[in-house]
Amino acid sequence: MSAQTRSRRVTCADIMKRKGGEPIVSLTAYDAPMASILDPHCDFLLVGDSVGMVVHGLPTTVGVTLDMMIMHGKAVMRGAKTALVVVDLPFGSYEAGPEQAFESASRVMMETGCGAVKIEAGVYTADIVRFLTDRGIPVMAHVGLRPQAVNVTGGFKAKGRSNDETDTVLAEAEAAEKAGAFAMVVEGVDEALAGQVTNTVSIPTIGIGASATCDGQILVTPDMLGLFDWTPKFVRRFGNARERIDEAIEAYAAAVRNRTFPGEAEVYRVKKD
Ligand code: KIV
Repeated sequence: MSAQTRSRRVTCADIMKRKGGEPIVSLTAYDAPMASILDPHCDFLLVGDSVGMVVHGLPTTVGVTLDMMIMHGKAVMRGAKTALVVVDLPFGSYEAGPEQAFESASRVMMETGCGAVKIEAGVYTADIVRFLTDRGIPVMAHVGLRPQAVNVTGGFKAKGRSNDETDTVLAEAEAAEKAGAFAMVVEGVDEALAGQVTNTVSIPTIGIGASATCDGQILVTPDMLGLFDWTPKFVRRFGNARERIDEAIEAYAAAVRNRTFPGEAEVYRVKKD
């Protein structure tokens, strides 16, 4: 189903069918207006917990709450008409076990109307993925670099530096697939390892900093638009939003200061009753 011509919302089953086929296009979204711009171009939109860093100015994603994800998920669902919308379960909302995960995921699904949730998947989360999928909640897994684990791993370093690391990522991917995940994000891994994961699992892999060997790609939208001075190595800036916005604000400030804004066309001249 081409993103430009589709007449219904993309489902998880549609995404699964794209394994090894036309690359899956996805971006993160956090609000309604941007979701409506991204929607016709993307197969799915991720309401990522990166919202904590790129919208709320937090240092990591660890401070993001379930209520924040639900608020942004609702906004994105209002803007996205046909792309599948996937909402991240944030740190602390699922790791205690299947019941906690179900409580959080069912709230997300019911309150936002999104089509799936995403969880950062270690081998230990296989039980959680199985519990959710058995109960009707589609799960996208997230393996490789897991930003929610940054306080244990000590940073945002790409994975695949040792045989142990490679084996762990492969084990996480296989466990998530076996447990019923319909797709998985593969973040920050060496190209060869990304290829190995993609060839090993039968569900689509969505790469971010994981090479073109994946079945699709995702980027954090403000990063690829060029909103920030610094971006990680794997980001390509497809625009320079920061400069464009800066120019517009500079022009506005100058117009206010020299009293050319508001002008003739921008004032009300109402007839008196
Ligand atoms: O939170 C997020 O935006 C993500 C992407 C980096 C895949 O998980």
